[in-house]
Amino acid sequence: MNVPQGENGPVLLLEVEEVFAGYGKIEVLHGTSIRVREGEIVCIIGPNGSGKSTLLKTIVGLLKPTRGSVRLSGKEVGRLDPQEKVRLGMAYIPQGRNVFPSLTVLENLQMGGVSLGDAGAVRRAVEEVLEEYPVLKGRVRAQAGNLSGGEKQILALARAVMTRPRLILLDEPSIGLAPRIIEEIYNRLQEINRRGVSLAIVEQNARKALAVAHRGYVLDLGVTRLEDTGAHLLDNEEVRMLYLGEKGNGPEQEPQDPGSRR
Ligand SMILES: Nc1ncnc2c1ncn2[C@@H]1O[C@H](COP(=O)(O)OP(=O)(O)OP(=O)(O)O)[C@@H](O)[C@H]1O
Ligand SMILES: [Mg+2]
Repeated sequence: MNVPQGENGPVLLLEVEEVFAGYGKIEVLHGTSIRVREGEIVCIIGPNGSGKSTLLKTIVGLLKPTRGSVRLSGKEVGRLDPQEKVRLGMAYIPQGRNVFPSLTVLENLQMGGVSLGDAGAVRRAVEEVLEEYPVLKGRVRAQAGNLSGGEKQILALARAVMTRPRLILLDEPSIGLAPRIIEEIYNRLQEINRRGVSLAIVEQNARKALAVAHRGYVLDLGVTRLEDTGAHLLDNEEVRMLYLGEKGNGPEQEPQDPGSRR
């Protein structure tokens, strides 16, 4: 969608400013900054281990920053817990799909709606979401663990939408999916965005993410290295070489460092 303009330009939804965070004594983010404006799709790319997932976990409150600030619509939320952030309009889909494998599709959706409070509201939200996602409607009684990878990702997305978020944070939504399914997931994401929901997407699949993003960031070793429009980053020679596998004429390669976990 077009990014709405306030009196002073685009309206800021999320501001991550000079954030330091990590796991106990291991500091992973060393002063990372990103911004998401209302209505924007922002993508965050970077090599394995650069702190992309850590950044999302810090934004949603699973990790607390040791320094720096996280603001949502101007309000400091860095110390808040994940449940409180859900109430303020954040939804998070972690790396590796966010579904309970032993629960049915319906039960997964109901769980996604717990923060809505009363049972009536949950029921209405489930009905709405099933209308929007017919692939799930046909499979409400199926165990989520038996869904295909693409269906699981759609279910994870539907669960996130249940909470009526203003901002959805997605960690590698396309990983392990066939190109046709990735296309479908991204079409869904753009559709959600057109309805006014902002998206922050972490991706290895930099080409696809940058193609749909209004803006993007390159994260490296826990600091923000580059920031530009999606189109400019797609054109940037360094990005093309490092993240789009365009070194020489060789086959497309995944951005990797030799010591990475994947
Ligand atoms: N639970 C944890 N405890 C300690 N260190 C961790 C933990 N999770 C991640 N790390 C370390 O933090 C660093 C950043 O990891 P993170 O998962 O944020 O990177 P990433 O950019 O998401 O990588 P990938 O592309 O592989 O998903 C890595 O060095 C990783 O080993
Ligand atoms: Mg990650």
